[in-house]
Amino acid sequence: MSLDRKNRIKHAAFRRILHVVVVALLGVLLLFFLWRTGSVYHITWDSDEVDEGIVQHTALVSIEKSGLPKQTKLSVSLEKRNWLPPRNLDLFPNLAEDHITLVLYVHNRPQYLKVVVESLSKVEGIGETLLIVSHDGYFEEMNKIVKSIRFCQVKQIFAPYSPHLFPNSFPGVSPGDCQQKDDPSKKHCKGNPDQYGNHRSPKIVSLKHHWWWMMNTVWDGLKETRQHSGHILFIEEDHFIFPNAYRNIQLLTKLKAQKCSDCYAANLAPSDVNSRGEGWASLIAEKIGNIGYAFNRTVWRKIHSRAREFCFFDDYNWDITMWATVYPSFGGPVYTLRGPRASAAHFGKCGLHQGQGEQGACIDNGSVNIAIEEVDRITNVNSDWEVHIYKRQSGYQAGFKGWGGWGDMRDHQLCLDFAKMYYLGSTPLPG
Ligand SMILES: *[C@@H]1O[C@H](CO)[C@@H](O)[C@H](O)[C@H]1NC(C)=O
Ligand SMILES: *[C@@H]1O[C@H](CO)[C@@H](O)[C@H](O)[C@H]1NC(C)=O
Repeated sequence: MSLDRKNRIKHAAFRRILHVVVVALLGVLLLFFLWRTGSVYHITWDSDEVDEGIVQHTALVSIEKSGLPKQTKLSVSLEKRNWLPPRNLDLFPNLAEDHITLVLYVHNRPQYLKVVVESLSKVEGIGETLLIVSHDGYFEEMNKIVKSIRFCQVKQIFAPYSPHLFPNSFPGVSPGDCQQKDDPSKKHCKGNPDQYGNHRSPKIVSLKHHWWWMMNTVWDGLKETRQHSGHILFIEEDHFIFPNAYRNIQLLTKLKAQKCSDCYAANLAPSDVNSRGEGWASLIAEKIGNIGYAFNRTVWRKIHSRAREFCFFDDYNWDITMWATVYPSFGGPVYTLRGPRASAAHFGKCGLHQGQGEQGACIDNGSVNIAIEEVDRITNVNSDWEVHIYKRQSGYQAGFKGWGGWGDMRDHQLCLDFAKMYYLGSTPLPG
């Protein structure tokens, strides 16, 4: 062996040792940083066979925050499913470049969900995008309906901290919790009453928790969407979606940038849930409604930066919380852009709202009384229209004190923890 060669081997060995030392040092630094920020990662390999044909080796990155409640078995197993890839990749291998992701959030009304899914199956362009269904609780019938979808990529996620998954611990009811108007000092029970003296009800707080968990997870957690640069459209299990909804929302999100500088979102329907629109030849800017709303990551960052306002406001409704605290905190008008004719409709059970007659969309016997006309099948928003703005709209706004139901410090903390799940300090985790 020549001297030169020996030297080179020695040199290479030294470099390898140096490499190991540097990597180890970096590892120690990283651990120290994670420890300081209170998060520790467990990266495990999971090869469960879940669902027909989808056998995946999924790298699960689960983040344990000391604040999050201890999970039940069901909660853990459902959370694992959140990291599975979408279904129907064989039928729809690619998403369109400019797609708007759809997120449908549901609880447990299978007869409603069937109607919504049926309506989605007829939406023009749906095959170009990914549909995420976010479940609050686990219900076999709901699961079945979602699994039967074949018209686009579908990803199912389950809120792992849904009160419905915790039969005898927080976020469900835990032994020793105060009920209704109990006085904690007299009854020696756990809990903080809301501003009206009432204690938490898991069934009632579950909606706001689900919405907030879902927003954080979709924007900052899921591999499929945390890099998504476009808009995400949110709908619920009782929103009937018209065939032109997807094309309309694509156009509206483009027009909002050009025509309405105070529009943070685009909507499929008027904020007044009983209205189907004015039928004018104009676009409309108004307060953000909760039927079919779409916004982008810039707006999400703004909402996320108001996590404390969202989590501490004593109202169990996520939408009222947004109107009364989050949007007003943006410091200027906050509008959404929509067309003059609804392309989604909220429906309920027929005959529940007396005095409304047959006007309200409703469902009976598994079918819904919404008539689809020709204009609802094709894009019916015109790029040349002006924008009509509703400046002073009635409804919840800054100053409203809230309906209560959200006074328990444990709920405030869980909500804040959701906002931190996918963050290291103040920056989102890298994709
Ligand atoms: C997202 O939407 C907001 C509000 O419409 C807009 O100001 C912003 O430029 C958009 N961001 C991107 C990255 O398009
Ligand atoms: C459901 O609809 C069918 C046919 O339209 C009718 O015969 C039946 O009585 C309905 N059931 C209920 C519970 O309304």
